[in-house]
Amino acid sequence: MSKIKYALIGCGRIAPNHIAAAVNNCENLEIVAVCDPIPENMEKVLSQIEDTSSIARYTDYKVMLKEKQPELCAIATESGYHAPIAMDCIEAGCNLIIEKPIALSLKDADAMIAAAEKKGTVLCACHQNRFNKSVQKIREAVENDRFGKILHGAAHIRWARNKNYYDQAPWRGTWAQDGGALMNQCIHNIDLLRWMMGNEVVEVCAYTDRLVHDYIEAEDLGIAVVKFANGSYGIIEGTTNIYPENLEETLYIFGSEGTVKAGGKSVNLIEEWKFADGKDDPEAVKEQYGDNPPNVYGFGHTPLYTDVLDAIKNKRAPYVDGHSGRRALEMVLAIYKSAAEGRPVKLPLEDVSTLDFTGRF
Ligand SMILES: NC(=O)c1ccc[n+]([C@@H]2O[C@H](COP(=O)([O-])OP(=O)(O)OC[C@H]3O[C@@H](n4cnc5c(N)ncnc54)[C@H](O)[C@@H]3O)[C@@H](O)[C@H]2O)c1
Repeated sequence: MSKIKYALIGCGRIAPNHIAAAVNNCENLEIVAVCDPIPENMEKVLSQIEDTSSIARYTDYKVMLKEKQPELCAIATESGYHAPIAMDCIEAGCNLIIEKPIALSLKDADAMIAAAEKKGTVLCACHQNRFNKSVQKIREAVENDRFGKILHGAAHIRWARNKNYYDQAPWRGTWAQDGGALMNQCIHNIDLLRWMMGNEVVEVCAYTDRLVHDYIEAEDLGIAVVKFANGSYGIIEGTTNIYPENLEETLYIFGSEGTVKAGGKSVNLIEEWKFADGKDDPEAVKEQYGDNPPNVYGFGHTPLYTDVLDAIKNKRAPYVDGHSGRRALEMVLAIYKSAAEGRPVKLPLEDVSTLDFTGRF
């Protein structure tokens, strides 16, 4: 089978992970183009490849779509641009990997999912931590019902982002292009918690605040309680205020017959593994299912790309589909809404956007 023609739209901070994932999947994919309105950003991300002579550079993705007709695009621009760019790509018949959050409003996410379904194209939300060895091992235990009755779970994201980080890209922390700590940094673990706890949420009750970062518009702390449809509960604590650096990103799942904790800087280690069924040796599991990535982005982009290429080939949904991306987005927007209204919010939500919270702090 011929290689899938691939292009990257948006060549900033996360772009090297996409190019690395593309290179690691080069048996099934050919990088035909990159696109960014800032030419230096394209050269910077391409500097990790030895020979880039066959890769076209575009400052306008619409021209790139027309001239190169890529079959798969990754969108790694500011979050507020994901939806309009995705709609154009789908219209052009392009399969997509969209960085998280897939959109900033539920209406946009719904339109993107519907358009991709109508066109028969793959739409993948880039929640790459689902592919962490530790997370895959926990998911396997969930799917094999090893926890017994799932009782409660907790997601902690205790990270640090300083002024320099926001100065590098002024869109960060704005309601129009990003959202705050929960939408940008914490959404990965919020996705994992919801996914592990059965996906169906009844109600969310939350507080958010901006305690330290008075130069951004959105929150730097969020605390939420979640009631799941299966009778279990969830706790979310997410912040970018930790002194002086990233401390941890942890996920706990507690069941009547199992206790698990994934930890490390980005849920990359298994720190507790206790099951009544005694099917495996906890020390061996901790040893075997941990990773030590160089940064909090982890190693997940490569297997996510492998899955998407296989999904395109076999005309199936990807492992992290658009609905998964929408569920993570809905959780964060539910937290924002509950905090803003000072009361619990029932799910599902249909028409909420980060823009609804403009001027909140
Ligand atoms: N999966 C992860 O772990 C992870 C990590 C970091 C960021 N992200 C997400 O990736 C996205 C990008 O974040 P970042 O930190 O790399 O941002 P960034 O500001 O460093 O990079 C964004 C790039 O997109 C370019 N761009 C803007 N408009 C464009 C357009 N119309 N066409 C092509 N390129 C365009 C900008 O010039 C810039 O180079 C965000 O949605 C963010 O939430 C995901």
